[in-house]
Amino acid sequence: MSKSMDIKHNVSENNTQSSAVATKMRFEYEDDEEVATESSNLEEDSAMCEPETSLVISGDNKTSADYYFDSYSHFGIHEEMLKDVVRTKTYQNVIYKNSFLFKDKVVLDVGAGTGILSLFCAKAGAKHVYAVECSSMADMAQEIINKNGFSNVITVLKGKIEEIELPVSQVDVIISEWMGYFLVYENMLNTVLYARDKWLVQDGLVLPDKASLYLTAIEDADYKEDKIEFWNGVYGFDMSCIRKLAISEPLVDTVKQSQIVTNCHLLKTMDISKMSAGNASFTAPFKLVAERDDYIHALVAHFDVSFTKCHKLISFSTGPKSQTTHWKQTILYLEDVLTICQGEALMGTMTVAPNIKNPRDVDITLKYSLNGRNCVASRTQFYRMR
Ligand SMILES: C[S@@+](CC[C@H](N)C(=O)[O-])C[C@H]1O[C@@H](n2cnc3c(N)ncnc32)[C@H](O)[C@@H]1O
Repeated sequence: MSKSMDIKHNVSENNTQSSAVATKMRFEYEDDEEVATESSNLEEDSAMCEPETSLVISGDNKTSADYYFDSYSHFGIHEEMLKDVVRTKTYQNVIYKNSFLFKDKVVLDVGAGTGILSLFCAKAGAKHVYAVECSSMADMAQEIINKNGFSNVITVLKGKIEEIELPVSQVDVIISEWMGYFLVYENMLNTVLYARDKWLVQDGLVLPDKASLYLTAIEDADYKEDKIEFWNGVYGFDMSCIRKLAISEPLVDTVKQSQIVTNCHLLKTMDISKMSAGNASFTAPFKLVAERDDYIHALVAHFDVSFTKCHKLISFSTGPKSQTTHWKQTILYLEDVLTICQGEALMGTMTVAPNIKNPRDVDITLKYSLNGRNCVASRTQFYRMR
């Protein structure tokens, strides 16, 4: 494990106080390096948006209860995202190096946060930018935009994309940073698709336009022992009922390259410019072939996003072989410790769907089987990112 191993958290550990999206605050900032981005490497809604039922809250009047329902209102989560240079510099490069995509265009920034992407677009020559943000960070975005002299180009609209009225009937470009852990956690993709279907002009652009989810397998004996098997005997008592919960929760953390045992399998590619909302749920087969003799304790997912309409394709990866981002990787521990020989294949399917009760949570069903020389195993496991 990386140096962050000692602060591994799983999603719900960090969510006891705040909403799903507050997990973005678990970002562990590592390097300040420049990033080579070109082809480089209403329960649920109140969790992200300002609650309709709350008293008017602004600035210092916020209480911890307000943040509980409105986690993107806190500047800390935006600091973490802005300091993720892989993320933010990629968007900046996409916009500044491809100003022909933005020049004299009407742009919609879906989930504008501090307004950073809107500012990039305005600087690149957009005719007008509509910055829509549902949390009270919209007030800060307005101040930032005024202060930086862009109030004539950027209009901030405070509210949910699904509820606001846009002053124009069509936009030329939709830009958004909607990706959650495991790509689809937070379910903000549907908000982008909603905006696309409602306002995007025919042949308009959605940025980014491609997102792909990958799967690989790792050796992770020490950490599985520490976080999962720990519950089997705690000061002499059987607490294995908690083990069941622990293993069902995917862990968000960094994985070292040296832990990777198999190839990396492309599970699913989403074309954001064409897909329908339902396509964010899927079942995909996988085949992970061992590159050496080793043990497998967990499967690991990561995603890439691409901006294919740029002059030169620009993308970034959240994989274990790339510079760490605040999304890290998502680790799913297996019940079995698999003994795998080089060339043998761990086969299976993964089903991913928003949880029915709370669509910002993700339900994952993993079916796997190994028919190896030293190990035969077959199992179905259920996980929930919450
Ligand atoms: C991942 S942050 C990105 C913020 C900013 N664009 C950036 O790149 O730093 C997503 C933002 O979208 C907002 N958001 C989420 N769902 C929304 C919705 N349905 N309508 C409007 N804003 C939304 C959140 O409050 C949050 O500030």
